[in-house]
Amino acid sequence: MQFDELLKSRYSCRHFSIVNGKPEKISLDKLIEICNAARLTPMAGNIYSIKLILVTDREKIIKLAQASMQSWVANAYAIIVVCTDGKQTRIAYGKDAERYLPQQAGAAIQNMLLKATELGIGSCWVGAFYEEKVKEILGIPDDIKVEAMVVLGMPTKNKLKKRLLKQKPKPELRNILYFDKWKGKRYKEKVPGA
Ligand SMILES: Cc1cc2nc3c(=O)[nH]c(=O)nc-3n(C[C@H](O)[C@H](O)[C@H](O)COP(=O)(O)O)c2cc1C
Repeated sequence: MQFDELLKSRYSCRHFSIVNGKPEKISLDKLIEICNAARLTPMAGNIYSIKLILVTDREKIIKLAQASMQSWVANAYAIIVVCTDGKQTRIAYGKDAERYLPQQAGAAIQNMLLKATELGIGSCWVGAFYEEKVKEILGIPDDIKVEAMVVLGMPTKNKLKKRLLKQKPKPELRNILYFDKWKGKRYKEKVPGA
């Protein structure tokens, strides 16, 4: 898939295919490819702060759905729980680490969402959950931060639902881009290649 097409095809998928009462299977190879996309993320000082927990256990997925209070999450085939171990980054950068660490997690998450899209797998970034509950379910220690869950499943085959599941409209570039200073000149032309 071309890069622009990939960017435009990604959307938050919250309706997953269920086969014989279970979420449609995704091969381990594909799940590993998605995790590997997080490994390729830039990190301040090349100090890698992210740890991933790949969850495919049904009972745990149901518990994670409860911890996020989002019932659709229970229909996921897999959830990648993205954690930050910030110790080394804090040693290297002190206070600045607090800015770097969530940025790094976000970059890793977006890499994984794009890789999932390329593989035809539905994905959604989930940031709303009770962190303490997630930690308890997965045995995550106190000094580790749970950043997000990347919820994965095969997109529903229901055509009507599929049509509703397009990426949300995005702002015009002229509304988010200034030239040279805050509220500076705006871009009024047609975006090249768009
Ligand atoms: C930091 C962050 C947290 C999010 N948390 C949730 C969430 O808890 N539940 C959910 O359904 N979607 C969540 N989303 C997905 C957004 O709702 C979604 O990206 C947005 O509506 C735009 O839709 P799109 O992803 O289809 O372009 C989150 C996205 C981000 C970036």
